[in-house]
Amino acid sequence: MILVFGSINMDLVACVPAIPRPGETVLSPGYRTLFGGKGANQAVAAARMGGSVSMVGRVGADGFGEACRANLAGNGVATDHVVTCAAPTGCAFITVDSAGENAITVASGANGTVEAGDLPDGVLVSAPVAVMQMEVPLAASLAAAARVRAAGGRVIWNLAPAPAGLGTADMHAILAATDILVVNEIEALMAAHALGGAPDFTTAARQLATQGDTVCVVTAGAQGAFFATPEGALHHTPAVPVTPVDTTGAGDTFVGVLASELASSTGLDQAVQRACAAASMACLVSGAQDGMPTRPQLDAWIAR
Ligand code: RIB
Ligand code: NA
Repeated sequence: MILVFGSINMDLVACVPAIPRPGETVLSPGYRTLFGGKGANQAVAAARMGGSVSMVGRVGADGFGEACRANLAGNGVATDHVVTCAAPTGCAFITVDSAGENAITVASGANGTVEAGDLPDGVLVSAPVAVMQMEVPLAASLAAAARVRAAGGRVIWNLAPAPAGLGTADMHAILAATDILVVNEIEALMAAHALGGAPDFTTAARQLATQGDTVCVVTAGAQGAFFATPEGALHHTPAVPVTPVDTTGAGDTFVGVLASELASSTGLDQAVQRACAAASMACLVSGAQDGMPTRPQLDAWIAR
């Protein structure tokens, strides 16, 4: 069983020739309303692999909230533990440029009110693989992660988005609550900075893994993924080369597929390979969730 504790957003996506700089205004022909939020995206990615997935999070009592809940359910994600609250549904304002790169502002709304208590004890009896990110309050995620591990579950922590000025105490607390830390190159350096600093992301991965007694996976875009073990070994999985249309949701696809593979007892090496391939596929379609493959689609793509 996979439990995703985290954010649910509606994404408002505008395509622009170039992402605006401070003070600049750019025109986009229009915008699209797409389902997002790192937590919800990861839940959908895991569910498309065919696993049993439950989402814990919050939406507002508004149209976006209803639509987000229905989208999760439509993708086979259990929504019994999605709370409807007084704050508005989280909203992400996303600009995507002609190279498929993005810039995102998240208005947290309901996500900012998530509490550890939203995770009911009953869910923990199945010793789930639980997935955390950084779009709901950190204290709530830490407390929920501790309960997951006390119940014999495993915790995958996606340090995204990594907050500017991430403190040493918070980083130690996250590592202590985590079995597998997943970061991108920038987040790896930010996390290592909180522990004293590292010159490059592979050194950062080793440092986080050995100091935190955890596995540290770094997603490195076109370079694929690297993972460091608590013993200090570093493994590399090359990416399948693609020409990205929209990288939004690629990291979430990676995390969701990794969770699903680990929940079905796939070894870490193969789980990372499959997560990498799925993340590449997700970049081929615009929007966070539309390009996420189903298990048969992923199998077919890997076998090409
Ligand atoms: O990781 C992509 C997601 O980040 C988007 O769906 C957006 O909602 C933001 O949370
Ligand atoms: Na995408």
